[in-house]
Amino acid sequence: MKRIYLDHSATTPVDPKVLRAMKPYFTADFGNASSLHSFGQKARAGVEKAREQVAKFLECESKEVIFTSGATESNNLALFGLVRRARALDLKRKVHVITSAIEHPAVLEVCRELKKEEVEVTYLPVSRAGLVRLEDVKKAIRPETILISIMYVNNEVGTIQPIQEISQIIKEVNAGRGKEDKIYFHTDAVQAANFCDCRVDWLGVDMLSLSAHKIYGPKGTGVLFIKSGTPLLPIIFGGHQERGIRSGTENVAGIVGMGRAVEMLTDKNEIKKINANIKKLRDKLVGEILKKIPSAILNGDLKQRVPGNANFCFKNVEGESILLMLDMEGIAVSTGSACSSGSLEPSHVLTAMGVSPEVTHGSVRVTFGKDNSREDVERLLKVLPGIVARLRKMSPIKK
Ligand SMILES: Cc1ncc(COP(=O)(O)O)c(C=O)c1O
Repeated sequence: MKRIYLDHSATTPVDPKVLRAMKPYFTADFGNASSLHSFGQKARAGVEKAREQVAKFLECESKEVIFTSGATESNNLALFGLVRRARALDLKRKVHVITSAIEHPAVLEVCRELKKEEVEVTYLPVSRAGLVRLEDVKKAIRPETILISIMYVNNEVGTIQPIQEISQIIKEVNAGRGKEDKIYFHTDAVQAANFCDCRVDWLGVDMLSLSAHKIYGPKGTGVLFIKSGTPLLPIIFGGHQERGIRSGTENVAGIVGMGRAVEMLTDKNEIKKINANIKKLRDKLVGEILKKIPSAILNGDLKQRVPGNANFCFKNVEGESILLMLDMEGIAVSTGSACSSGSLEPSHVLTAMGVSPEVTHGSVRVTFGKDNSREDVERLLKVLPGIVARLRKMSPIKK
């Protein structure tokens, strides 16, 4: 049975071209990028080429690209780094951060920690379609606000947030403030990189996070773009690598892989072709599911979403049961609920969108990648309606 992977928002396979670029750095070119000898220089050259590849994609300077262990670390560095720097200058300073209720835990959990450090955090609500509203951003800004962190694309429902418009609001507020009171803008662009324009000046962001394993690169490598002049303290201390902002011996092979993966994203014609195909597959799936499965719901805005994402709720069934039954058919998808400490928590994203907890439990996310085909969609369409019908028959909840 051919296995079908439809969970590309969780992770993507490493592209053979990426693997090819990485391989020498595990063997012949294994040096430490900080070593002065030729082994080290070879590794350093690999790292710096990757930095340029990322800088080209983001249209920034290569010195503004910092390599990390992944987007979780990038987000931690952006939020903790900025807040702690502000506090270091003035210990008594009141600090306020704005984020959204639908961020990835790599932002929400940082905010939870920041609250323990007496930082005030505002979680912006979202519309039923899963979008942050600009009026809410404006209303939330206070004199103490120093940082706004809003994700570019949501990982569960694929909605594209109005980053440029938020940046415009921040610019207008900053025009009336001194340098010390400036609001900085961070975006988690992990789920956007495959589909959206990530040029940082065009977006108007001061910091932006990326992860290699969502763009056909290796796991365990990420990037934080930090615009020159953004005041930030490191959160990891040691050998002063990455200009002292992120100590630790560079993951050379991983960084080289990230550079190559990002470079592939700069091939605009190829990306356009890939995404047109992905959109066709996704639209076919959505159309057929809504037709074939009674009371199926599509979550998230219809237009303001990336082409790779479809997120459904099926009433009176558990998303986990669907996931497991599809897995037995060789099809991998995911569900919005998070299994934590033995209990199933409803998705915080769907909850913030106003989906009721009973319905949230029946959520299934299907995310497409560049290797998916029409046959994959047809196989899913062949088995999913039957699975939902069987589970509904077994459900004690009255239909
Ligand atoms: C939106 C978003 N941010 C951050 C992360 C964390 O990235 P990493 O796995 O590189 O730590 C993910 C991964 O699922 C994500 O989807």
